[in-house]
Order: sequence, then C-alpha cells, then structure tokens
Amino acid sequence: MDDTGRVSSNGTPWWRGAVIYQIYPRSFADSNGDGIGDLRGIIGRLDHVVDLGVDALWLSPIYPSPLHDFGYDITDYTDVAPEFGSVADLDALVDACHARGLRLLLDLVPCHTSIDHPWFVEARSGPRSAKRDWYIWADPRPGGRPPTNWMSAFGGPAWTLDPASGQYYLHSFYPEQPDLNWRNPAVAEAMHAAMRFWLDRGVDGFRVDAIAHAIKDDRLRDNPVAGAGRSVFGVDPSGHERLWNVERPEVHDVIRGMRRVAAEYPDRVLIGEVYTPTELLAGFLGHDRDDEFPLAFNFELLHTPWRADALRLAIERSEALTPTTTNPTYALSNHDQVRHATRFGTDAVRLAALVLLTLRGTITLYAGEEIGQTDAPALTGPAHDRAGRDAQRTPMQWDATPRGGFTTGQPWLPLTDPQRRNVAEQGADPTSVLSLYRRLIALRRSIPALHHGEQRSRLDLPGELLGFIRSADGERLLTVGNLGATFASFTLGGPAAVVAATDPRREGTSVDGAVALAPNEGLLLRLPD
Ligand code: BGC
Repeated sequence: MDDTGRVSSNGTPWWRGAVIYQIYPRSFADSNGDGIGDLRGIIGRLDHVVDLGVDALWLSPIYPSPLHDFGYDITDYTDVAPEFGSVADLDALVDACHARGLRLLLDLVPCHTSIDHPWFVEARSGPRSAKRDWYIWADPRPGGRPPTNWMSAFGGPAWTLDPASGQYYLHSFYPEQPDLNWRNPAVAEAMHAAMRFWLDRGVDGFRVDAIAHAIKDDRLRDNPVAGAGRSVFGVDPSGHERLWNVERPEVHDVIRGMRRVAAEYPDRVLIGEVYTPTELLAGFLGHDRDDEFPLAFNFELLHTPWRADALRLAIERSEALTPTTTNPTYALSNHDQVRHATRFGTDAVRLAALVLLTLRGTITLYAGEEIGQTDAPALTGPAHDRAGRDAQRTPMQWDATPRGGFTTGQPWLPLTDPQRRNVAEQGADPTSVLSLYRRLIALRRSIPALHHGEQRSRLDLPGELLGFIRSADGERLLTVGNLGATFASFTLGGPAAVVAATDPRREGTSVDGAVALAPNEGLLLRLPD
C-alpha cells in the first residue's frame, strides 16, 4: 500500500487497474441552493464515492466560462468559476480527497480557449497584437471563402471571419472556441504554467481534452475526399478525411511536453482524450517509450452495440494494441454520449457493470451510472447545450424527493427520475445496482487477478455469451454474461464459486457442468485450479 493506504505499490503506478469516477460538477451536488452543483457540494458527498470504492475523481472543467460549450470554453485556466466556488474551495476538495485516500484529477482543455479569454481578446485587437500568433489566423481564399475546407467537430466550417481584420480564425469546435496555436512556444509555456498551478496545489493529474486537435497543417492544405472503408472517426460530415487538421504528427511533441511537466511531480497522471481508432491509440501512449500519455481513453465501448461478438472484438483489439507500458482505459458513459443505461437498456446495466469492472485496465465511471441512471427521456425548457447533450448531464439523484437531494433551489436541468433511482434507497438495498457496483469495485481492489491480472477471451462460448478470464498468481476468474435475448448455457469442467452475479441470489453459491444464464445475466466465477 502507498501512503494513501488505498493503492498497492508493487512498483506499478496507482492508475493501472484503477477506477476513476467522472463528476460533471454542475450536476453533482449543490451546496448553496443556486441550482448548480459546486465544489462544496462535492466535498459534502465524498462519502458516497468512498463507499463506492473508487480510486480517483475526475472533474469536468471547473474554470470560468461563458458556457458556450459548458465549461470547455475557458476564460481563465487558473481560477474556479464563481458558481463552483473558489480556488480555496478546490484546495479544500484536494485535501478532503487526499484525507480519504482519493486522488483528484482536473480537466485540461489545451486546444482552444473561450472567445472571451483575455488572450483572444488581445489577439483579435489586430494583426499586430502581441497575442495574434497565439491563435490561428489566415486570409480568405478568393471570393472570401474560408482558408481551407476543414470542418468544426460540431458541424459547419472550422473558420469564422473576423470582420475587423478581414482574416479568419480557426476553431475545431464552436466559433466561440478559437484554437490555440501550439506551434507558438509561448502557448505551450502558458499551458504548462496552468498545469503547474494546479499540480502545485496537489491535484493528481489531468484528463486532457480533445488533444488530437492540438496541431494543424502549417501549410493549411485542404482535406481530401475520404476513400472507401476509412474509419468514421477520421471523416468529416462533408465526406472529407480529417487529414490535415487532426492528429498531425507534431501533436506527439505537444503531448511529450505535457508529460514532462507532469513528471516534475510524483505520481501524477494524464489521461488523453484522443478520439481515435484503437489502431492509432498506441501512438498517443508513446508505444514502448512511455513518454506520452500514461493513459488514453479507448472509446470503442461507447460506440459498440450490446452484442457479445462486437464487444469481444473491441476488447480483444484493445488488449492486442495497448502497449505493455500501460493498460487499456475504458468507459461506457460520459458527459458527451448517450448514457449506456439508455443505449443498452436498463435491463443490461448490471451485466454491463460486471463486464466493465472485471476488465483489465483503468475504468472510468460516469457519475450516476452506479444507480443505473438513464438519459432524460424528454427534457422540457430551454436547451442548454447546443450539441444536444443535456439529457446525459441531468443532476445526480441522491434521494427520492422531487429535487433528488441535489439542490434546495431550482435545478439548472430537471432531474430525470429520482423517485425511481436514487443513492439513498439503493445504498440501503443489498440487491440494488449501486450495491453491485460497490461489491464489484471492492472485489477488483482486493483480488490481484481482477486488479491487474492478465486477460484472455474464452472463445468456446455460444455466440450470445461474452466471456473472459482474468488471472494472476495462479488464481483464475471467469466473467461470463449472456447478451442475447434468450437463455444460453455453457459448460464448466469443474465446480466454480460464484464470486459476483447480476442476480445477487447466486452469489456465494457454486456452479458446475452446464450453466444456464438468463438474458442479461452474468457471473463472475472463481475457476478451479
Ligand atoms: C469534451 C466535450 C467538448 C469538446 C470540446 C470534448 O471532447 O468532452 O464536452 O465539447 O471536447 O472541448
């Protein structure tokens, strides 16, 4: 154990095998009744995450923002938005986490600022401004057209005209999020300084946002029409391959620079949000040199249908392609995607938890999934997020009251269904989804084979069954689940103890010979020697 008492230190970094809990701060817990979650609210709910048993929290952005992209458009990298509290509150949260053996990660958004950031305000003041080259400007093409055919990730051209100077500025996301120019060393220095500001305060690392967009072609070449069979991750809605504006080779130097900053401090981690196919992810993990991201999200499970063959393939690909210096990093839900309880259906959430929390790798949970939270089916009132992601960002449901224990005021987004799903009731019910999450995380922590053991698929199973074996020190555990719509069975060569099960009544029993599983039923079995 290390000095936090929660992390084994057999020479492997704390984040390998860890479970990280993502909090969307606006929606977690409101301490002052303004209807918006805040840092003091998180401090007040830390017992929940401790009971859940996770290793670390990751907070989506807490910085001042005019909210064009809900915090991913930042006006000050070294401050806390007033609705979330203050830097002193963040310090208190760091201390409260560390006192409980939890790590705390922040979101770093290095590729673009807010249009209202003083750097951009200065840059836009004119071509001779000292900060002009902190962003990416270019003259129109003939006829006033944008400088290239690049598209914003949110649709529409990636260029917006600045009428005052007659030049366009580049934005990989909304026009209110101008892209920083990472070819300018001053930008790197400023961002590194922001990292150090938080690392000095004890923050344990960052999830690094949208990093593939950090560097673009310096010759501003047009993207080519995409060829057949290319990955959907790399193609614009206009049908052009994102060749010159995403994942340029120089991005790896940007990441190495960030890694060097993190390495100035002990035990800090960076998790890359790269959004690239698994085949390309190793390049962002530094291959075997281990000099880029220590971890990078594998998002395939966010886009894989609830089918055994599809999931097996995604998991095997990740196993095969992740460098040995690290481990895969999985999530089933986050603040950008339809929650998996909605994608897969609520009947599937127990089995999804069993699979996710027994996989080899670092696991990221999205707050609310531990109670089986779904997307809000019909949100009334004004939309907040222009990209339509309100439904997965509704407030955490702490109890069955109409405001779910989230706030005493008017919640910034309506709650989805606190009467149906909430922490208070599920926490007291040993058969609940929440109790299953707690048991699975505790098992993952205490059984080396689950925490960091090897993994291989069990391939002799009927098509609708997904199975994989984790092993370490002679101990072997089999995760097996039925993703089909009818009963399915498999055969065991000897008696196996049921360590965890989607149906809690099966836990503590043992199985042997032909084992039948109902639809969406799963077992974690300790296999005989
Ligand atoms: C974040 C999104 C955000 C985008 C632009 C992402 O990957 O997760 O919420 O809209 O980056 O910053």
